[in-house]
Amino acid sequence: MEKILVLDFGGQYNQLIARRVREEHVYTEIRSYDRVTPREIGGAGYRGIILTGGPNSVYDPSSPRFDPGILELGIPILGICYGAQLLAFLCGGTVSAAENSSEYGKTRLFVKEHPLFRDVREESVCFMSHTDFISAAPEGFRVLATTGKCPCAALGDDSRKLYGVQFHPEVTHTEFGKEILQNFLFAICGLKGDWDAADHAGELIERYKTELSGKKVLLALSGGVDSSVAALLLYRAIGENLICVFVDHGLLRKGEGDFVEKTFRETFGVNLIRVNAGERFLKKLSGVTEPERKRKIIGEEFIRVFEEEARKLGHVHALAQGTIYPDVIESGKGASAVIKSHHNVGGLPDVVSFDEIVEPLRDLFKDEVRAVGTMLGLPGELVWRQPFPGPGLAVRIIGEITKEKVKTLQEADAVFREEIAKANIEKRPDQYFAVLTGTHTVGVMGDARTYGCVVSLRAVSTDDFMTAEWSRLPYEVLERASSRITNEIPGISRVVYDISSKPPATVEWE
Ligand code: XMP
Repeated sequence: MEKILVLDFGGQYNQLIARRVREEHVYTEIRSYDRVTPREIGGAGYRGIILTGGPNSVYDPSSPRFDPGILELGIPILGICYGAQLLAFLCGGTVSAAENSSEYGKTRLFVKEHPLFRDVREESVCFMSHTDFISAAPEGFRVLATTGKCPCAALGDDSRKLYGVQFHPEVTHTEFGKEILQNFLFAICGLKGDWDAADHAGELIERYKTELSGKKVLLALSGGVDSSVAALLLYRAIGENLICVFVDHGLLRKGEGDFVEKTFRETFGVNLIRVNAGERFLKKLSGVTEPERKRKIIGEEFIRVFEEEARKLGHVHALAQGTIYPDVIESGKGASAVIKSHHNVGGLPDVVSFDEIVEPLRDLFKDEVRAVGTMLGLPGELVWRQPFPGPGLAVRIIGEITKEKVKTLQEADAVFREEIAKANIEKRPDQYFAVLTGTHTVGVMGDARTYGCVVSLRAVSTDDFMTAEWSRLPYEVLERASSRITNEIPGISRVVYDISSKPPATVEWE
C-alpha cells in the first residue's frame, strides 16, 4: 500500500496535512519526530515524508529536530513552515529571524516553473504564519518561490527530491495548496492515489471474517458515530458473534436510548443488550456538584456496569472499541494543560480479561469514519450526529443532578433541536444544546409570580472543537425556541443565549 509519513513537530495543522493527503486517496501516518528512527522509516515502505510546521525556532538548542539520517533514505521530502526551515538548516542553509520579516495570513506568492508548482499561477495567494525565514538556500537547492518578505518561500533539490515551502499548502487560504500537495504526491513521489476508506473497511471486514471466525466479540455501544460504525463493521464480519452492550446511564438526550436500541436491534438485527442503569447512576451522583467528580463517577460506574454484563456472558474473546485515528496519534506537542478530563465513558474494564482488543477504526479520521458508516448503511441521523459528551447531560446540569432536572433539560434540549431542524439554516451549527444553569429567577405566568430555572441555549461553529465561535443563529429561531421552552416545559422561567466563544469559554458549561 502506498503511504506517506507526516513527521510531526507540534504545529497546529498537522492533522489537517494528513487529512488533505488522504483526500488525495493516499494513506498517511502521523508520527512524532522523536519517536521514529530513520531505520524504521526506511523499513516501513513510506513513499514520501512531509515535515510539519511547529512553534519553534531552529536556532533554539532545544528545538525539535529530525535525525539527518532521514535525508539519506532516498525518500522524497516536503518540509512545511518550520519543517522547511529545519530542512534548509540541517542541509547547511541559513534561517534568520528579523522582526519585520514575519508574515501572518494571506500573502502574495510568486512561483518559478517547477513540477511542484504545475498548474499553479505564477502569482497567487498563500497562507503564511512565521517569524523566522530562510534567508539563504543550502548548496544544491534552488529557490522556487518568493514573497514580499521571503527571499526563499519555497526551495528544492531535485537530485535528492528534497523540497520545502514556507507557507501552508494544507490551509484553504492557500489558493493552489491542493495542487501543490497533489504535485508532491503524484509528480514527485510518483504515487497513484488508490487508497479509499470504504475499501479499507471492506478489507477489514474480510480479514475479521477469517481472524475472528467463531469468536465472541464484545462492544460498548454508545450511539455515537464511532462506536456505531465500529459495531456495524464488525457485525458485517461476524454477525451474531458480536455482542453490543448499550449502557444507558439515563443522561442521554430525549428519546436517544430508544432510537439507538431500535436502529441496531430492529433495523440491523445486531445482538444488543441494553442496560437501563439510570437509577444506579443517579444514586452515585447524588449530592455531587463538582464537574470533574461527575465525570469520574460516570466513567467508573460505566465500566462497572459493563463489566457486570461481560461477566454474565462467560468468556469473550475480544473487546472491540471505536477508537479513531486522532485518539492514537502521538503528537510532537509534548504535554499540554488538561482543561477537562474529557474521558469518554467506556474506558477499558480491568476485571474482565480479553485475549484481544479490536479497534477497526484506529486508522481513520472522523470524516472517513462517516464515509464508512454511510457505506455500511447507517442512517444519516447517526452518521451526522453532533458530538455528545460521554458523561451526557450530567455536564449540562450545573450543580446537583436529579431525575426531575434531567427530564426538564431533556425536554428543553429537544425543543431547541427541533427548532433548529425546522429552520432553514444555511449551515447548521456544529454543536447545539440546552444547559440547565442552576440559577433561578422570577417570572410571571398569567397573573401569578413564578420562580423557575434559567435555561441557556448554546450553539457553536467549529472545525475541531479546540476553538469554537458562538453561532449567529437567526433571532426567529431563538425566539421560537425560547417561547416554546417557557410555555411548554414547567419550571423554566427564562431562556438566555450563550454568546461566548472558545477560548475563553469552553463548549460545555462544565
Ligand atoms: P469543551 O467543553 O472542552 O468541549 O470545549 C469540546 C468538545 O468535547 C466534548 N466534551 C466531551 N466529550 N467526554 C466526551 O466524550 C467529556 O467528558 C467531554 N467534555 C466535553 C464537547 O461536547 C465538545 O464537543
